[in-house]
Amino acid sequence: MANNLFAQDVLQGLSQKPRKLSSKYFYDAEGDKLFQQIMRMPEYYLTDCEQEILEASKEGIFQAIGRRQFKLLELGAGDGLKTKVLLRYFLEQGADFQFQPIDISRNVLLELEESLQAELPELSVDSLQGDYFKVLHELRSESGIPKVVLFLGANIGNYTPQEAQRFLRSLAEELNPGDLLLIGFDLKKDPAIILNAYNDSAGITAAFNLNLLRRMNRELGATFDLQQFRHWETYNPLSGETKSYIVSLRDQHVFIRALNRSFHFEAWEAIGVELSLKYSLSEVESLASKSGFEVQQHFFDQKRYFVDSLWRIP
Ligand code: AVI
Repeated sequence: MANNLFAQDVLQGLSQKPRKLSSKYFYDAEGDKLFQQIMRMPEYYLTDCEQEILEASKEGIFQAIGRRQFKLLELGAGDGLKTKVLLRYFLEQGADFQFQPIDISRNVLLELEESLQAELPELSVDSLQGDYFKVLHELRSESGIPKVVLFLGANIGNYTPQEAQRFLRSLAEELNPGDLLLIGFDLKKDPAIILNAYNDSAGITAAFNLNLLRRMNRELGATFDLQQFRHWETYNPLSGETKSYIVSLRDQHVFIRALNRSFHFEAWEAIGVELSLKYSLSEVESLASKSGFEVQQHFFDQKRYFVDSLWRIP
């Protein structure tokens, strides 16, 4: 029996019908590189929209925070490209704050620290490695300095509505009255624009999703033939669900050495691999109140494709 978490999740996901694998496993070294490429694609408007919001609204965000002394925490900081817009501005305004990026990956944090040290040497950085809630829980009993938490990039869209609510409720429980959350949502819009963002003509998203099969081949000794599977994308304008599937092009068997098991795929059988949920503004507001926050202000890009919403613990 496989003892690592990846192998166990693969076993569980491929043993159920319909089959499902978690998109959290997209992000190995290869997947990280492909995601960087996705963020630079013309079709993937999300990154540019959020960059535009932070550039255009940095002053408004600082005013809405309304304090000069705070702790700025970021959940899943990545390369920090967008966050640097805020960090630079807050420093210019003479804010007294410490930046605390939280990430499960020590590598991500080390790279971020290095680039921050080079670009913003005056910034005080205290990066925290580990599970978001464990880290936040440990910070809870700390000094009474107010917290501003960043959860950007529409990462919340990768959770189902139930998971999102549970996640945000747990976050709210670790915060104190007056603490703030700036959270990014991709909004419902022309379905063609959304579908294109996940179905790019260069096939980068397809490669990103199919890398999951490659990762199983590399790490679990699986025998997926990538020519025999295809990326498929759907958008449901009613629910806002953008879903990625990997479809088996023929009847085939795949052996996974780490599980010592063979899996049979029927022709055209699909594996669900990712949800990227799109929200209406009223759904954003309802999620805030159901999770124990109140909406303080919305910050939009010019096209209103995306919102960074500032929430407060009452
Ligand atoms: C990380 N996450 C918000 C991205 C999204 O849009 O759901 C991941 C992604 N998947 C395909 N393209 C980008």
